[in-house]
Amino acid sequence: MKEIYEQKEYMKKIAEENKGQSKKYTILTMGCQLNENDSEKISGMAEEMGYTKTEKFEEANLVVINTCCVRENAEERLFGKVGELKNLKEKNNMIIAIGGCMMQEKHMADKIKKSYPHVDIVFGTHTLHKLPEDIYRVINSRKRIQDVIDIDGRVFEGLPISRASHTQASITIMYGCDNFCTYCIVPYVRGRERSRNPEDIIAEAKEVAKQGYKEIMLLGQNVNSYMRSENKKGECKSEINSFAKLLREINKIDGIERIRFVSPHPKDFTDDVIEAIRDCDKVCKFIHLPLQSGSTNMLKVMNRKYTKEQYLELVQKMKKQIPNIKFSTDIIVGFAGETEEDFEDTLDVVRKVKFEQVFMFIYSRRKGTPGDQMENQIPEDIKHKRFDRLKELVESQISENNKEYLNTIQEVLVEGPSKSDETMLAGRTEANKVVVFKGNEDMVNTIQKVKLVEDHMWYFKGEITNND
Ligand code: 5AD
Ligand code: SF4
Repeated sequence: MKEIYEQKEYMKKIAEENKGQSKKYTILTMGCQLNENDSEKISGMAEEMGYTKTEKFEEANLVVINTCCVRENAEERLFGKVGELKNLKEKNNMIIAIGGCMMQEKHMADKIKKSYPHVDIVFGTHTLHKLPEDIYRVINSRKRIQDVIDIDGRVFEGLPISRASHTQASITIMYGCDNFCTYCIVPYVRGRERSRNPEDIIAEAKEVAKQGYKEIMLLGQNVNSYMRSENKKGECKSEINSFAKLLREINKIDGIERIRFVSPHPKDFTDDVIEAIRDCDKVCKFIHLPLQSGSTNMLKVMNRKYTKEQYLELVQKMKKQIPNIKFSTDIIVGFAGETEEDFEDTLDVVRKVKFEQVFMFIYSRRKGTPGDQMENQIPEDIKHKRFDRLKELVESQISENNKEYLNTIQEVLVEGPSKSDETMLAGRTEANKVVVFKGNEDMVNTIQKVKLVEDHMWYFKGEITNND
């Protein structure tokens, strides 16, 4: 690809200039796994430009902040961090670049430009691949650069990548979102849906398998509409023209033992996807199925395009077809107009499905979304009270669910030493339960049979069992 070739030339030039200077970079990533994956590409580019990674801002010559704007709290965090960097900047002749979703919001990019003159580069989600060129221009002209475009970015292949984990490799399969849920800013900052070619995805999956990765995480805002917009436009040239077919192809790759994906949309959960999950032995029988609200009224206001009953029917259908399937979900509390009755419906669905994990969010008004214009906003104190009630229910259910796992033997993909106790290993079960246990280094990046002997709510203590 010509554009990427050009950027590779910039990477080489910067690497040449950085030679022998032990320059360092650091990245602060906010938000979702798609952003984490973008940051792995930024890391790949930074390393190719001759920077080595540091966790310490005070040591860094290049600081990149990859922002999120899905909820409000990220904004305060960003401004706090940018403020702190002002004093550090002179010391290391630091280049500061801020990118990601928040920079696609004009008012935020303008605020950075106006109030934080020590920021060198502002880049958007569609111009991430041009970071080497932007950095080159800053080094050589010391001018500030704003490189944000509003049109949908194309899908660029061939950027270097430096992955954060050695067991799980994230692979983005599609960009953008066409759903326009009324609370959500993503369609405005990430643009329309566009899918990567299946051949490129499969090549990347084979590559990570060759490198020794055991788990693949497929990423997209709406993975089960993979290739939908290309099919509509007649642009898909491959036989692998749906998410179900893509899953089946990736399932064939030797060396990969687990396949996960986030996030599917309940409205697009067609039978072919359910059958692919059932048939593919490597696809984890643990599905993230964002609910958002359990009330049919709220789901309508949210533009989710399914009802409470349809969601529950989908769960039932999957439970029937796929024995032992488990679910996690996302729930928003306190969206505009949510009544006590609506909220009770959410609790009802939670009680019925018995999720293994629930990511709970208090509704945060996002400028430019229909939700922000709605008049019947819920007072903060009510939102918080409902959030606490939901949390209480979820926690009681998780401890109920955990009882079922206690004293069972689970297959654990071992990730490495436990963060809280270096003498122990940590890994995850198929249903994403963290298990900490005593073992040896050879077990890292393998699947081990572990008996779960103690339940600590958010993790289990385990004991290795004899594998034969
Ligand atoms: N307020 C609160 N939560 C939100 N999410 C998306 N937009 C908002 C918002 N404005 C949540 C949804 C989504 C998850 C990634 O973030 O639950 O699934
Ligand atoms: Fe946002 Fe809805 Fe798209 Fe998910 S599906 S990114 S919640 S608009």
